[in-house]
Amino acid sequence: MRPHLGTLPSASLDSGTVAGLAGSVPGLIGDLRSDHAGETGAVAIYLGILAVSRDPQIRHFAREHLATAREHLARLGQLLPVNQRSILLPLWRVAGWLTGSVPALFGPCTVYATIDPVATFVDHHYEDQIRKLPADGSGGALRALLMACQADEAHHRGEARAADVALKRKLTQAWQRLVGTGSALAVAGARRV
Ligand SMILES: [Fe+2]
Repeated sequence: MRPHLGTLPSASLDSGTVAGLAGSVPGLIGDLRSDHAGETGAVAIYLGILAVSRDPQIRHFAREHLATAREHLARLGQLLPVNQRSILLPLWRVAGWLTGSVPALFGPCTVYATIDPVATFVDHHYEDQIRKLPADGSGGALRALLMACQADEAHHRGEARAADVALKRKLTQAWQRLVGTGSALAVAGARRV
């Protein structure tokens, strides 16, 4: 059973915990810096979608995912003092905003098709770190936090895929109805003239 972020106490992990673990987990600070930068980009992706799209379904999707990305970012922010965060955060914000806003210009399918691989990438990124962490003690607590974030990413990917399939099915059905009606009209016309 995967941990859920809401059930994990937010006060149990902080930068002191990470400093204590950093000696025994190689690359831990860099990993967490990349997570924090990634979640900064994720927040910007959903803000970018919301800045452009007027589609109610996409806006609902983006608002929900924005709340989750902000929660992930807040939790990761507790683990990293400002001086350990990426100095390129402004760049990740711009890149994220463009990754959300540009697909949103082309419509819902493009947005879902963008979120799917992004969430898959983040899922694997968290998985690599989870494997490096011990299962118990403060390492276990950090592991549970990353697993909860990972589970949210997998959920986002599932939602994006399901919405994409549903939307494509609707478009296909609308097209099929149009072809059917067009054929019937052609036959009716050809009977007369
Ligand atoms: Fe996230």
